[in-house]
Amino acid sequence: MWYFLGVFVALASQVTALSPNYIACQLQKPAGLSPLIGCPAGTIYVSATDPTAQFSSVQAAVESLPPYGAATLLIGEGDYHETVNVSRTDPVTMLGQLTWSTAFDPTGNATSRNLAHIWDNKYVITGMDDAQSAVLVVSPNFNGSLIGAGTTGAPYQPYFGNVDFKAYNIDFENRAANYSISQALVTDISYANASFYGCTFASYQDTWYTGKNASTYVVDSIIYGMTDYLFGFGTAWFQNVILANRACGGGITAWKGTNQTDAPGNRYGVYIADSKIIRSPDANATTVTDSQCYLGRPWNDLCTAVYLRTYMDSSVNATGFIPFSTARPVIMNTTYYAEYMSYGPGGNTTARASDHILTDSEATNFTIEGVFLETPQWIDYGYQI
Ligand SMILES: *[C@@H]1O[C@H](CO)[C@@H](O)[C@H](O)[C@H]1NC(C)=O
Ligand SMILES: *[C@@H]1O[C@H](CO)[C@@H](O)[C@H](O)[C@H]1NC(C)=O
Ligand SMILES: *[C@@H]1O[C@H](CO)[C@@H](O)[C@H](O)[C@H]1NC(C)=O
Ligand SMILES: *[C@@H]1O[C@H](CO)[C@@H](O)[C@H](O)[C@H]1NC(C)=O
Ligand SMILES: *[C@@H]1O[C@H](CO)[C@@H](O)[C@H](O)[C@H]1NC(C)=O
Ligand SMILES: *[C@@H]1O[C@H](CO)[C@@H](O)[C@H](O)[C@H]1NC(C)=O
Ligand SMILES: *[C@@H]1O[C@H](CO)[C@@H](O)[C@H](O)[C@H]1NC(C)=O
Ligand SMILES: *[C@@H]1O[C@H](CO)[C@@H](O)[C@H](O)[C@H]1NC(C)=O
Ligand SMILES: *[C@@H]1O[C@H](CO)[C@@H](O)[C@H](O)[C@H]1NC(C)=O
Ligand SMILES: *[C@@H]1O[C@H](CO)[C@@H](O)[C@H](O)[C@H]1NC(C)=O
Ligand SMILES: *[C@@H]1O[C@H](CO)[C@@H](O)[C@H](O)[C@H]1NC(C)=O
Ligand SMILES: *[C@@H]1O[C@H](CO)[C@@H](O)[C@H](O)[C@H]1NC(C)=O
Repeated sequence: MWYFLGVFVALASQVTALSPNYIACQLQKPAGLSPLIGCPAGTIYVSATDPTAQFSSVQAAVESLPPYGAATLLIGEGDYHETVNVSRTDPVTMLGQLTWSTAFDPTGNATSRNLAHIWDNKYVITGMDDAQSAVLVVSPNFNGSLIGAGTTGAPYQPYFGNVDFKAYNIDFENRAANYSISQALVTDISYANASFYGCTFASYQDTWYTGKNASTYVVDSIIYGMTDYLFGFGTAWFQNVILANRACGGGITAWKGTNQTDAPGNRYGVYIADSKIIRSPDANATTVTDSQCYLGRPWNDLCTAVYLRTYMDSSVNATGFIPFSTARPVIMNTTYYAEYMSYGPGGNTTARASDHILTDSEATNFTIEGVFLETPQWIDYGYQI
């Protein structure tokens, strides 16, 4: 056993993909070895199937955490049918288990690697707030999680929730339906700072939400959706992600901004860098996507949406961005839509309406430091893509 352990630790230390900090913890161990070998001290093991685990539900593990101190959870291979709700303020890191045979496959991606699947199947019916359909909620309390409607949404809250939530190599899925049944969120991250590494987020309508006063960073991940599937109020940076169009509706993004009176200096918006927009490999074969998907529509007129160095397949319509609806048929000049070095069949910007095609010099404004107005300490810059 000690021989295998030595070999294991030696191999894990050679790894140059994924998270060098956590890969030894995340990889499944040979039978007989503790799954927690290589994990940070105090890591809690959650498994849907392993009776030696401390918890069989992720939410039960979250609720067991003391209010103070950083916490790490190792989520074992398996399906977890539950809503996960993180309201504590201190750091929480969730690590999905991985296995040698797929973790380092150079042709793989988050979907082909991830073994831990957290899913639920709630969708919005009359009387529900969008927040109540989310699979993962990171917010200080119920009022803070509310999304509301209209151009300003739910009222501002004087609270801040988690200062450093991280998830690595986990699938988060809303399985309410295989079409756009109504709002069926995967994430609701409000009044919190959160980052995601090698994860997937799958739904049809409103998959991803970065709420008021929230900052989020997502890397090496796949977001599956159809309608307004990246929406929000806060600041969201998506780096090297795949936006997988399961069908087309609304816009890929639908953002709201806040004026400089309410939030001085803010750069609230959605920023997508070095990414790919494709027809989803799991789109229904009968669904037509060619030229049917739009890069965004403005949820309010202070919306900001910027695509940097992103590949766009033929699902992206040549017009690019569109007005919100027939009731708000004009893209106001307070809306800021921009692209820089888009490429691929949908990346020809000649016929774009109402967006800025950035020059090299203008594009230098759009960096992680530029949009978060600092170098966020809550991002793990060591994750390897
Ligand atoms: C992920 O990788 C698998 C296996 O290579 C491939 O079949 C699938 O199309 C990829 N998914 C996306 C969204 O690119
Ligand atoms: C999440 O937990 C907080 C604190 O316990 C609670 O106020 C809120 O209602 C919960 N939200 C959901 C969606 O379960
Ligand atoms: C949540 O909002 C309701 C009214 O909208 C208010 O009565 C309640 O006190 C708020 N709760 C918290 C914890 O702020
Ligand atoms: C969605 O499709 C999958 C794969 O075909 C199927 O297993 C699942 O039951 C479907 N879900 C719903 C809610 O119909
Ligand atoms: C900023 O927005 C708020 C509503 O959220 C509004 O009351 C205020 O008048 C706006 N200020 C300016 C300068 O537009
Ligand atoms: C955002 O949250 C921080 C930390 O709680 C607070 O200082 C700031 O005023 C909030 N900003 C807005 C616009 O609500
Ligand atoms: C694909 O779409 C067709 C036509 O809407 C529908 O009949 C079929 O059930 C869909 N297939 C899946 C797997 O959802
Ligand atoms: C692209 O979008 C515009 C505006 O909605 C629409 O008129 C046009 O038909 C679309 N192009 C294609 C090729 O479908
Ligand atoms: C924006 O549009 C308004 C009218 O809606 C106009 O008064 C203003 O000059 C425009 N601003 C710029 C910078 O074009
Ligand atoms: C881009 O689209 C325009 C028409 O809008 C067309 O004239 C041009 O040839 C296209 N460029 C490329 C490289 O396909
Ligand atoms: C770039 O940043 C500078 C300084 O913050 C600002 O004045 C300018 O308006 C920004 N330009 C664009 C295109 O956002
Ligand atoms: C959340 O992140 C933003 C952007 O990095 C930062 O300005 C803010 O201070 C952070 N909030 C807390 C409470 O740590």
